Amino acid sequence: MANTVLIGAQWGDEGKGKIIDVMTEKVDWVVRYQGGNNAGHTVEIGTEKYVLHLVPSGILHDEKRCVIGHGVVVDPMALVEELEGVTQRGISIAGRFFISDRAHLVMPYHRTIDEYREKKASSGNTIGTTKRGIGPAYGDKASRTGLRMGDLLDPEFPDLLRKRVEINNKILTALGAKPVDAEEILSTYQRAADYLKPFIADTIPLLNQAVRAGEPILFEGAQGTMLDIDYGTYPFVTSSSATAGGACTGSGVPPHRIDRVIGVVKAYSTRVGEGPFPTELTDAMGERIRTAGAEFGATTGRPRRCGWFDAVVARYSAMINGIDVWAITKLDVLDELETIRIGVAYEVDGQRVDQVPANVRVLEKCQPIYEEMPGWGCSTRETKSFDSLPANAQAYILRLTELTGVPVEILSFGPARESTLVLESPVG
Ligand code: GDP
Ligand code: IMO
Ligand code: MG
Repeated sequence: MANTVLIGAQWGDEGKGKIIDVMTEKVDWVVRYQGGNNAGHTVEIGTEKYVLHLVPSGILHDEKRCVIGHGVVVDPMALVEELEGVTQRGISIAGRFFISDRAHLVMPYHRTIDEYREKKASSGNTIGTTKRGIGPAYGDKASRTGLRMGDLLDPEFPDLLRKRVEINNKILTALGAKPVDAEEILSTYQRAADYLKPFIADTIPLLNQAVRAGEPILFEGAQGTMLDIDYGTYPFVTSSSATAGGACTGSGVPPHRIDRVIGVVKAYSTRVGEGPFPTELTDAMGERIRTAGAEFGATTGRPRRCGWFDAVVARYSAMINGIDVWAITKLDVLDELETIRIGVAYEVDGQRVDQVPANVRVLEKCQPIYEEMPGWGCSTRETKSFDSLPANAQAYILRLTELTGVPVEILSFGPARESTLVLESPVG
């Protein structure tokens, strides 16, 4: 398989982890390039269920090499815990797992600042973050006041850390939070450094060597297009580049070496946290989808907001990510519905809108214009080919491809590896 970027084309939780796991078979490397442990990627293999936050989902395949690129922000304690978790379950990581020395560190004060900013925000201004310190860590990176993975191994780390703690304690105090203790952080981070040292590397030459050797790479996006810092529903977004472009800036692999982009979408929509969501269902139908799809956050356990498929969002995602094919997940969740709706455009102040407006206050006012399609009323869980899908399910999928201008290559109708169809040639 060519070098492929796989991204979430909605608001995250599209089922990226599952599709990455399926596609890993075809590559040599899997690379995370942005986000942090705000992500929760679920992979189900037989009776085993893994939820990965920082470690690329490819780690579950023994022979594959996995990289945390420099675009990721890493909470070292969370990473150690996650690595211990996977190794205790019999997965060996030695020699095939690498962390960029340029990746920024999430520090304890980032987590507290994240929590207190949310607590202090006036009504309507909370973002509903995962409280993992992601925003403040990327903030420090952009402000050029961050600490990086490589710094952990530098003899000057204690001094660098003490200086950062001194400044951040002023911020914490102003927010009404307790100051942190530099020496305590030092001893915890030193333990993490000892554990992580063998894995910290300059991953840029490593990946470029792989490119030159023709070893295919799969880039694992976290979050989703509508949570991207630039393209999402700002300010109700995360703080990184969750779109396909982020794969280059977050890994050091140049743009002309990327061959394909796979966009993952659910057959409906979900969102966790605050912010506009035009096709949201706040009624019994929303509850029905939440229950059928087990829509509860993999990182925070929060109930996910549910709604119909939004073709305006999917078209926008296709455009800015250059999506070549769709992976459509969770088709089975719609199995029992009598009718299914698709948001095809918005209406705001009596005007039809076909693009995602930049202004979040305008987007809040957008009313979806729906098309309705009949459901199929039977299980898709055992699907073996596109043609064997119920006619109404085929029609629904084909309509999504028509509305977005992108064909479908992968269909998913259950959490397990086996409940996936990778079509030999894309349909639509
Ligand atoms: P990610 O963040 O994009 O990797 O997605 P999450 O793991 O947060 O959420 C997706 C959830 O849906 C997980 O619990 C998956 O096991 C589950 N899932 C993935 N694909 C399917 C599918 O086709 N059908 C069903 N019913 N569940 C799925
Ligand atoms: P995966 O990779 C869904 C959301 C949070 C919040 C906003 C900002 O599993 O798809 P942050 O903690 O990043 O500052 O929170 O982004 N969010 C996600 N929603 N899936 C995710 O990741 C998310 N990561 C962050 O709920 O609304
Ligand atoms: Mg998730």
